[in-house]
Amino acid sequence: MHEPALPSWTQLVRDIHDFPKPGIVFKDITPMLADAQGFAGAIDTLAAPWRDASIDAIVAVEARGFIFGAPLARALGIGFVPVRKPGKLPGRTVRQTYALEYGEDTLEIHADALHAGARVLLIDDVLATGGTLDATRALVERLDARVIGAGVLIELAALHGRARWNGTAPLRAAWVV
Ligand code: PRP
Repeated sequence: MHEPALPSWTQLVRDIHDFPKPGIVFKDITPMLADAQGFAGAIDTLAAPWRDASIDAIVAVEARGFIFGAPLARALGIGFVPVRKPGKLPGRTVRQTYALEYGEDTLEIHADALHAGARVLLIDDVLATGGTLDATRALVERLDARVIGAGVLIELAALHGRARWNGTAPLRAAWVV
């Protein structure tokens, strides 16, 4: 049995060594974004598992999550809700603080962004340690909305982010590296 072929957009993601710190190999998506077919292909791959799902809104995280969340919302014909770093959203917000390897970080969502019971799909570009995605899940659930799934473009398997996912909904990665 052989593995299914990787989508062609994966060839447009380049490795940048020692960014942002020595020893880290950063997956740089910018060449793929700049390529019309590559970007469209990535959106199609992200959308594929959810085409028949009943979803009310996409929730995505600043900044790179927006690049994929917004066109995906358009592709699926649903609304887009941003999760942002602190102090960026103008209305009343709900905050979630989560642990990083060293220190902590905080994310916010508008308190009235989702109605109770709304069916939500979370989207981000990369799953690394998993803290961002799981904090976003917690924010959505604090608004009494329901996370029906999460989609990331790239999962960095070595960082075990999937183990930090506390959701019961499926977490789908378009490309596991
Ligand atoms: C990156 C990426 C994810 C997050 C994944 O965002 O876009 O949101 O890290 O990491 P984690 O799984 O370890 O939480 P970053 O904070 O670098 O911000 P950016 O999107 O603004 O570049």
